[in-house]
Amino acid sequence: MKVLGIESSCDECAAAVVEDGRRILSNVVATQIPFHAKYQGVVPEIASRKHTEWIYAVAGEALDKAGLGPEQIEGVAVTSRPGLLGSLLVGLSFAKAFAWSRNLPFIAVDHILAHLYAPRLLSGTGEGEAPPDYPFLGLLVSGGHSIICRVDDFDDITVLGATIDDAVGEAFDKVAKHYGFGYPGGAAVDKLAQSGDPEAFRFPLPKLQKENRRDGSGHSCDLSYSGLKTAVINQLGQFRVKEAESVTPADIAASFQKAAVEILFRALQNAVEDTGLATVVAGGGAAANSYLRSRLAGQRGLRCVFPSPELCGDNGAMIAGIGFQYLRRGDRSPLSVTAAARVPGFKRRYP
Ligand code: KG4
Ligand code: ZN
Repeated sequence: MKVLGIESSCDECAAAVVEDGRRILSNVVATQIPFHAKYQGVVPEIASRKHTEWIYAVAGEALDKAGLGPEQIEGVAVTSRPGLLGSLLVGLSFAKAFAWSRNLPFIAVDHILAHLYAPRLLSGTGEGEAPPDYPFLGLLVSGGHSIICRVDDFDDITVLGATIDDAVGEAFDKVAKHYGFGYPGGAAVDKLAQSGDPEAFRFPLPKLQKENRRDGSGHSCDLSYSGLKTAVINQLGQFRVKEAESVTPADIAASFQKAAVEILFRALQNAVEDTGLATVVAGGGAAANSYLRSRLAGQRGLRCVFPSPELCGDNGAMIAGIGFQYLRRGDRSPLSVTAAARVPGFKRRYP
C-alpha cells in the first residue's frame, strides 16, 4: 500500500510516499529556516503562512520523486498533533482534501509516535538495520519535547520521564541565540563544540535523578534544562575551570553540550535499570547531535538505534510509515478530525 504522508507541525513543510510502512519512495522536506533565522526562533504566523504557500508544491514533488500520479496513492496520513496549531491545520486541511477528492482511506497521526516509528523505515535502496523488536526504550528529544518512554508497539508508549521545564533542543536554541552561535541553535552548537574543550566549564546537573519516584516504584527519569540554561547564559563565570583568558566560544558550546547530554544519559540509565530494557531508539531533531550519538554508542550493554539524520528531524516519511500501520488494521479518521497543539494527559500514559 502506497501512503502519502504530510507533516506541517512546526517549520518543516514535508511530504513523502512510503510503501507498506517501510520503503521510502520519496521524502521531500522544505525547510523554512531562512524565514525564521532573523528572529532566531520559529514565528508561528510565518510558519503557517509558508506552509499554505508551499504544501501543494511539496506534495506534488513527493509524488513526482516517487514516480507516481495521484491515482496511484492508496492512503493518506497526516500529523494532527502536537504542534503549532496554525501550521498543523494547513497540512491537515490539505491531506483531508486530497483524501476526500480521491476517496482514499485517511488517518490523522501523532507526531511523537511518528518520531519513534522512524527507525522502522528503509531508504529507497532497501538497506538498513533490522528494526528493533518491541518493547524498547524511546528517547525523544526535539525543540518541543524531551521524553523517555517505554515503547510496546507503534501506538503504545508509556512515558517514564519528561522534562519538567525546557526541552533539550530548546536549551540548545536559547544558548546559541544568547551567544550568537547561529541558527538553528542545535546544529550550530554541535558544530562549534567540535573545536572546543568540554572540560572548560563544569556546569551543575539537576538533582532530579537522585530522588525516587513518589510512589517508590523506581528512579526518576524526569529531565530539567532550565537550570543548565541559566548557568550557561547568566552565571558562566561561576562554573569556569579553565583560565579566563584562554576561554573560547567553542569551549562554552562544548561544555554546555556535554552537560546537556549527561542529563539525558543519567535519566536514560535510570530507565534502563528500572525496565531492564537495553535497546534505545532515539528520535527528534536533537537526536542528530553528534556527541549524544557517540556517548550512547560507546555504552556497553546498550543497543542504540538512531534513525539517519534526515529521518531524525521532522519529515513526512515517518508520518506515512506509521499511518500505514493504522490503515492496515482498518483504523480511519473522520474528515471532521481537527488539530491539537498539545496531547492532554501525556505525562504517564500516552497518547
Ligand atoms: O524534531 P525537530 O525537527 O522539531 C521539533 O519537533 O521540535 O527538532 C528541532 C530541534 C531544535 O531545537 C534544534 O536545535 C534541535 O532539534 N537540533 C539539535 C541538533 N540538530 C537539531 N540539537 C542538538 N544537536 C543537533 N545536532
Ligand atoms: Zn518533531
